[in-house]
Amino acid sequence: MEIIHVSAECYPVAKAGGLGDVVGALPKYQNELGHLAKVVMPMYKTPFLYAHEFDVVHKGSFGMGGSWLNYTIIKEKFNVLGFDLYLIDINGLLDRQKVYGYDDDVERFTSFQIAVVDWLSKWNHRPDVVHVHDHHAGLVPFMMQNCFAYKHMATIPTVLTIHNAQYQGWMGWNKSNYLPAWDSNSWGKLDWKNNINPLASAVKCSFRVTTVSPSYLEELKFNSNDLEALFEYEKGKCSGIINGIDDLVWNPELDKYIDTQYGIEDVDEGKLINKEVLCKEYNLDIHKPLIVFIGRLVDEKGADLLPKAIGDAIYHMQGQMNFLVLGSGDFWVERQLEDMKGGLMGYYNSKIGYNEKLSHQMYAGADFLLMPSRVEPCGLNQLYAMRYGTVPIVRSTGGLKDTVIDYGTPDGSGYGIRFNDATVGDITYSIHRAVQLYSQPKRLDEVRIKMMQIDNSWEISTGKYIELYKSLQ
Ligand code: ADP
Ligand code: GLC
Repeated sequence: MEIIHVSAECYPVAKAGGLGDVVGALPKYQNELGHLAKVVMPMYKTPFLYAHEFDVVHKGSFGMGGSWLNYTIIKEKFNVLGFDLYLIDINGLLDRQKVYGYDDDVERFTSFQIAVVDWLSKWNHRPDVVHVHDHHAGLVPFMMQNCFAYKHMATIPTVLTIHNAQYQGWMGWNKSNYLPAWDSNSWGKLDWKNNINPLASAVKCSFRVTTVSPSYLEELKFNSNDLEALFEYEKGKCSGIINGIDDLVWNPELDKYIDTQYGIEDVDEGKLINKEVLCKEYNLDIHKPLIVFIGRLVDEKGADLLPKAIGDAIYHMQGQMNFLVLGSGDFWVERQLEDMKGGLMGYYNSKIGYNEKLSHQMYAGADFLLMPSRVEPCGLNQLYAMRYGTVPIVRSTGGLKDTVIDYGTPDGSGYGIRFNDATVGDITYSIHRAVQLYSQPKRLDEVRIKMMQIDNSWEISTGKYIELYKSLQ
């Protein structure tokens, strides 16, 4: 089957979070099964662009609002990612250094999507599936079905995967003229509560909708930033497919970013050497359990709880543990995490910013990874942590609930630490449990080996996506 993934992110081309990891991996594994999966995304000015060679494969133009925009599609020459990669260049809009965070993101991602649909409409054959990811690609199914110039593609199956329903790409109806001429009887397919809502539109128009874990799909019916009724209404076409791990990128036996590679047989020694490097660099004590947080410093991730939880844990448990935080996001949280360093020197450190290498070093060198998420559609951090023998401490929500079993579960099947509420009290109690586990080396060793043996590879989930596409042919 020929599958076109449309996404704002794709690792290693451009990544802001887990969406990039998934879109950088899933097509590769689909191709390994004999399919022809391709990715189309905006051409940002990232290091990947300058380090690789491209061919121009298409040039086109379209009107958006009052402007006329030219676009160019370039294709990476040598299939270095294991799939065909197409980048859309729109001068002045997409050719920026960051993926998100500009005042004109609505114009940027709308123009990207129009270019995708316009390009597809020029093909002389039909792809089998157009698979759109999150709201940045959410208007594509609508345009394929309702814009006069593109309606001939209305029967091509479209699949939406929701990685995060918190962000929906809202825009006022005053921007409805951004879209190429469309059938005004279909306005209801764009509208949600008096705004154009690209995510809601994709839920309505896609042939099938998936979320990145089954539990998250259930939660969306009760908590989805105002789309609850829509998910309840459309539940018949929705299903949850959990993400996998790209074993070529996230594998402690092969990982080039870490100081010493290791596997199940030498996990204790391997982790200790990596921990030593981290502790030296960040002035922490190698003899204490090292608890880390890696991620976006936003409410969804419970990042605002970190300063107090870390402070309380160190104070009330007499500094029996160390913490290292890597992340960026809300200014106020960043500021608190930086300001705490002085008073907690030797017990806590942080690195504000985005640092791929350090993240790998932390998965390898830490003993525990904390994820107090309020919302977690799937979560990849806990999967990576487990692959590196690092015990996840997670809140029971979304994908965290689906992938982590508490080590205290009576039948002995568990391997992580789970807590119910995103509160400082629940977090510090879980940290206390982590310290206890750390003080029992034999038990910790069992847990590490059990986690590293779990098969969270992409093979299983790739098969599920293929089944889903087949059901639409
Ligand atoms: P989300 O996509 O919601 O941010 P995920 O758990 O799915 O959460 O994926 C996060 C991905 O981004 C992981 O690969 C994680 O290692 C990475 N990541 C997040 N923040 C940082 C950071 N500051 N530096 C390096 N990697 C980061
Ligand atoms: C999102 C979610 C995260 C998920 C990732 C990849 O950004 O917040 O939970 O793992 O997408 O699907």
